[in-house]
Amino acid sequence: MSESGLPEQGPGALLAVDHLRVLFPVKAGLIIDRTVSRVHAVDDVSLSIGTGETLGVVGESGCGKTTLIRALVRLIKATSGQIHFRDLDITAASRRQLLPVRREMQMVFQDPQASLNPRKRIRQILATPLALRGLPRAEIEAESRRLLDRVGLRPEHLGRFPHEFSGGQRQRIGIARALAMQPKLILLDEPVSALDVSIQAQVINLLDDLKEDLGLSYLFVAHDLSVVRHVSDRIAVMYLGKVMELSPAAELYTKPMHPYTQALLDAIPIPDPAENRKRVRTVVTGEVPSPIDPPDGCRFASRCRHASDICRTVEPPLTRYANGHLAACHHPQNVSAAELAAAVRSPLSPTSAGEQLPTLAA
Ligand SMILES: Nc1ncnc2c1ncn2[C@@H]1O[C@H](COP(=O)(O)OP(=O)(O)OP(=O)(O)O)[C@@H](O)[C@H]1O
Ligand code: SF4
Ligand SMILES: [Mg+2]
Repeated sequence: MSESGLPEQGPGALLAVDHLRVLFPVKAGLIIDRTVSRVHAVDDVSLSIGTGETLGVVGESGCGKTTLIRALVRLIKATSGQIHFRDLDITAASRRQLLPVRREMQMVFQDPQASLNPRKRIRQILATPLALRGLPRAEIEAESRRLLDRVGLRPEHLGRFPHEFSGGQRQRIGIARALAMQPKLILLDEPVSALDVSIQAQVINLLDDLKEDLGLSYLFVAHDLSVVRHVSDRIAVMYLGKVMELSPAAELYTKPMHPYTQALLDAIPIPDPAENRKRVRTVVTGEVPSPIDPPDGCRFASRCRHASDICRTVEPPLTRYANGHLAACHHPQNVSAAELAAAVRSPLSPTSAGEQLPTLAA
């Protein structure tokens, strides 16, 4: 494993992503298809997930969250970089080597309706992964019932089709299907975004209980920081294919360093309208740059009120502060002069990032 993957993300990582890039070709030409440019969907991302850890990944639409997950399970091929699951480099593994990893790494999708085959009853939907796992035929029915019970559904639900459930129940079936393979790591791609707020809380609580009881690890993708708050041990904030901040979860909410993280936090509504009115919010204006040939320097510069000259020319390195808190910003917020003096460049920084460490906010 490369040196950059682990040291500041904890030894013994279950999954280590090392300078991962996924670029999609943009084609043009009437007769001959030529690649004219590339969409930088995931652009030099390094992160890891420890055993029993939940890593939240947050960012607005199009920042590369789904592409990251799809590359991790090798549904799409990485352009460069490495992904290690335990000691196996997934990016270089053969189909045969990948088989056990595919079992241990399961996905839960945003839209449970679309991810469940509408023509199959739940009995069949669960029997497929159980048979793949090698469970004898005679045990499949009992195990299916146990799985449904585990996710809060009843045995009679086995005979129903997906459209005969509510959205929350369908997502529970998606989770049961993932559990059928006895995974170690579940990649959850916006698992509650399509659900009502009250149902969201129920599904998040279920995921939390399962993690505790089964010793699972999660990569939990959301576009909103309020969703991942209580389930994450650490949170990575992505913007236009890059990691902007990666921090222990509690600290991200009390001490956000990156202006983009601050803007995401300010976007979370407070239930009390009076409190809401008193808030001083960071309003993000300006256009999101195109992921096709993105700009030099900081990708957030066109929307950042703290941007200075260096921000538009030099990509900020991921800088490591106390408590394993990383931020890629030339002028981080909520940081004292002493904390800046003690900060170091993280080896997880993209290779295109500059060397210059941050200075106090402009
Ligand atoms: N197969 C593809 N070919 C070309 N571009 C793609 C492809 N898949 C995704 N993209 C582009 O890559 C970028 C990242 O897309 P992705 O779906 O990973 O974002 P996301 O963060 O999951 O967004 P959302 O929150 O809307 O689900 C987007 O600009 C998207 O248009
Ligand atoms: S590097 Fe500059 S432009 Fe980017 S977030 Fe920090 S202050 Fe803003
Ligand atoms: Mg997505």
